[in-house]
Amino acid sequence: MVTSTAAPALAATYSREDWQRGYQSQPQELDYLITDCEGQVPLALEGTLFRNGPGLLDIQGQRIHHPFDGDGMICQFTLQNGQVHFRNRYVRTEGYVAEQAAGKILYRGVFGTQKPGGWLANIFDLKMKKIANTNVLYWNDRFWALWEGSEPYRIDPATLETLGIDRLEGLLAENQPFTAHPRIDPGCRPTQPEERLVAFSVKTGPSSSITVYEFDPTGAVVQQQTRIIPGFAFLHDFAITEHYYIFFQNPVALNPLPFVFGFQGPGQCLKFQPDRPTQAIVIPRDPAQPMQVLETDACFVFHHANAFEVPNPNNPQGLPNLQVDSICYDFLPVINPSTDYLEIDFDQLAPGLLWRSTLNLQEQSIQRHCWGDRCVEFPSLHPDRVGQEARYYYMGAAHHPQGNAPLQGIVKLDLQTGAEQFKSFAPRSFVNEPIFVPHPQAQAEDEGWLLVLTYNAERHCSDLVILNAQTLDTEATLHLQQHIPYGLHGTFVPKVFN
Ligand code: CO
Repeated sequence: MVTSTAAPALAATYSREDWQRGYQSQPQELDYLITDCEGQVPLALEGTLFRNGPGLLDIQGQRIHHPFDGDGMICQFTLQNGQVHFRNRYVRTEGYVAEQAAGKILYRGVFGTQKPGGWLANIFDLKMKKIANTNVLYWNDRFWALWEGSEPYRIDPATLETLGIDRLEGLLAENQPFTAHPRIDPGCRPTQPEERLVAFSVKTGPSSSITVYEFDPTGAVVQQQTRIIPGFAFLHDFAITEHYYIFFQNPVALNPLPFVFGFQGPGQCLKFQPDRPTQAIVIPRDPAQPMQVLETDACFVFHHANAFEVPNPNNPQGLPNLQVDSICYDFLPVINPSTDYLEIDFDQLAPGLLWRSTLNLQEQSIQRHCWGDRCVEFPSLHPDRVGQEARYYYMGAAHHPQGNAPLQGIVKLDLQTGAEQFKSFAPRSFVNEPIFVPHPQAQAEDEGWLLVLTYNAERHCSDLVILNAQTLDTEATLHLQQHIPYGLHGTFVPKVFN
């Protein structure tokens, strides 16, 4: 296993002050054509990039404890005729509306934000703020802001107006969690020619239940199944293949008492247990087939890059092997109640590394190998390769090839050759998740663009950078008039909303 302490100390390629300023709140909601542009926006690149993330890191100067507790702010970039129009709006959750009206923090946050007044003000207050800050989803002409704590919020994709909590026509119960990480199965198989939206809901406690839904392009649920797994489950993301859903159950325990008694948020009561294995939960998409649980060394996973099936070389007629690529941490970063996230010591945290786990369903074993030492997060790939073997992944990456640091570059990994291409925005810019958009007439898997929202500390403003995905050369840099705090996830819709 590669650990952060094994890497020699490298000169920082960033200043902490620059990095911290990217976490300043952005209370403004704006709407304008971006006129300050270097290079040319490709005419063939047409559609809408949506991104979600915490936009407020304080309520009228009262700081929240962790960025994951920040109110969801959606950014919309409309690309058409070589021009880009920007718009951002907050998701009007009950919590956002109430706190903005009151001018102070009224809710506790999952990641430790407490109401002022110490534990007396927080004791037995289990009402969490719904924040809708993690991802966006577009399906069947509908658009949602997602977070995994409860139901999604329906949003107008043209105006970004919040339409309200959406229980998906009765599919979800009140307050039922719904994933912030759905997957779109591109289909294109004789047995399943159509696209499918695959999403899940986890209810956790002493034991946990996972419900997986598959929606067809009309929005109808065509498949639904629930499986029970023992123990508490922290399942942020999952992977799909032609025949399986794959979840990694991180070895964490939950001690809810500090939360109930008002000292900590529930996200802070998670304790990483390095002596327990990480479990791969393999659920067949055919509900009649049995679930399998395979074990491997303890690691912590937020995000999977992709997964696909290959024949088991020892018995090609039997169950396949599953190749699962994930960003793994040696241990879980914890934000203690007394720790300021802006002061975290990157050198003391495990870097995220891309690992391939080969799940042998016949022997019920896992073999793992690491793709490299570079600290990476937010993997993306060609949307048509989801669930099948892909040649290329694109990820946010640290500038140095080793060690832990903020994401300042984009790495493209060729999984066939192992070769890496790297584009750095150091020393003064920091990157968000790259999103790959295929060229409309693409022949090759990497023919297209990467849309990268960067925070440029020199201007204290953000830039939308359009990279050629084959060369990682910059085709255009669009300078925004304001900064966007570091965000989480987004999506590109090949459609313009007017
Ligand atoms: Co995520």
